[in-house]
Amino acid sequence: MITHDRDLSIDFCGVRLPNPFVLSAAPPTDDLDMVRAAFDAGWGGAVLKTTSVETEPVDLVYPMMSAVHFGGQRVMGLGNIDLISQHHIDVVERRAQTLKAEYPDRVVAASIMGSKKEEWQTLVKRLEAAGVDIIECSFSCPQGSMGAEPGAMLAQSIDATERVTNWIKDAAERCPVVIKITPQVTDVVKVARAVKRGGADAICAANTIPALMGVDVETFVPCPNVDGYSTYSGLSGPATKPVTLRTLAEIAKHVDIPITATGGPVTWRDAVEMMLVGATTVQFCTAVMHYGYDIIDDLQDGLAFYLDDKGFAKPADIIGKALKRIVSHGELPRDKKVIASLIEDRCVKCDLCYIACRDGGHQAIKLDPSTRLPQIDPEKCPGCRLCVTICPADALTMVEAKA
Ligand SMILES: Cc1cc2nc3c(=O)[nH]c(=O)nc-3n(C[C@H](O)[C@H](O)[C@H](O)COP(=O)(O)O)c2cc1C
Repeated sequence: MITHDRDLSIDFCGVRLPNPFVLSAAPPTDDLDMVRAAFDAGWGGAVLKTTSVETEPVDLVYPMMSAVHFGGQRVMGLGNIDLISQHHIDVVERRAQTLKAEYPDRVVAASIMGSKKEEWQTLVKRLEAAGVDIIECSFSCPQGSMGAEPGAMLAQSIDATERVTNWIKDAAERCPVVIKITPQVTDVVKVARAVKRGGADAICAANTIPALMGVDVETFVPCPNVDGYSTYSGLSGPATKPVTLRTLAEIAKHVDIPITATGGPVTWRDAVEMMLVGATTVQFCTAVMHYGYDIIDDLQDGLAFYLDDKGFAKPADIIGKALKRIVSHGELPRDKKVIASLIEDRCVKCDLCYIACRDGGHQAIKLDPSTRLPQIDPEKCPGCRLCVTICPADALTMVEAKA
């Protein structure tokens, strides 16, 4: 249950959402009752899992998921070899109609994937007629390859991205068109520019990252093990957040187009970070697959209290606030010297900072022989911040070095 009474609504390409939190195209949106449950829980919108024309074969393979765990925590990253929905456009049309009738204040987006011009255009026209609010186009599914190389994603080809976006926009009469790209390119700004040249209303970034999830060292079979074989997965979840943030920032700094973020968010803080680097709305998938639809309560409360605390009137006011702080390496300030400093009463004497600095830093930390507290040598410490990063007790901080 949410505890705030703040208006969190936001405008995305002319479509009003009750809050910026949206379910991305994935299993949590591939069933009518599941989307109903999500809307009842409070989600602002849902992108129905990617659909296709009735003739498109969708040949799923199970098991389709595996994960990387780290430090005793489950699912730092989730890998899937899922494809688009097995529910074709006829089913999705009916779902969209029902959802818009039952939840008129929620945003229903449909994700589509075609393999030729007529298919993309048919999907757009039929879904607009069914009443969806937004059309999201999956240009980052290996299945829908129309790029230069077989198996390549559409969004890996600048020309194909612009051309197909153009076809889709030609067919769309009412709905904003969002193009979902991939972070797996050399220059995402070029892709975003192609999306804009093609006439799209917004961009969805950054999606899953192609990955090999692991290898069973006993059987030599990578994960997930499909009867002795495996293939590359799409990596999602918390491990991908830094890639998403970088992708969002690069696009937002160079291309004037609204962005909906996807890739890695779990908490309200993650979502706020994504908005601070340019996202208008934030899509969630792995976090919901892990913790359920009810995380929406914390997302809404967290955002509301953050806005109050910082004195912002509405969610839109934080979009892009961090962008001017991202500069090239050459433009970073070099005048001020900072060094590590110990907050003694927090130190748990685990020695980790000492070991890290000794073997991976600058040998600037000694242990006091009587107290075992780390002692930082200001002459040797260049301020690299390795010790602050690894300290499990937040007992180290950076301070300005005395001249
Ligand atoms: C099992 C699974 C299936 C997915 N299916 C689709 C899909 O059909 N269409 C699509 O555009 N994205 C699909 N995605 C990608 C998600 O929509 C989302 O962009 C991605 O998982 C990154 O967000 P997250 O870190 O919040 O999970 C899928 C993701 C998962 C985990």
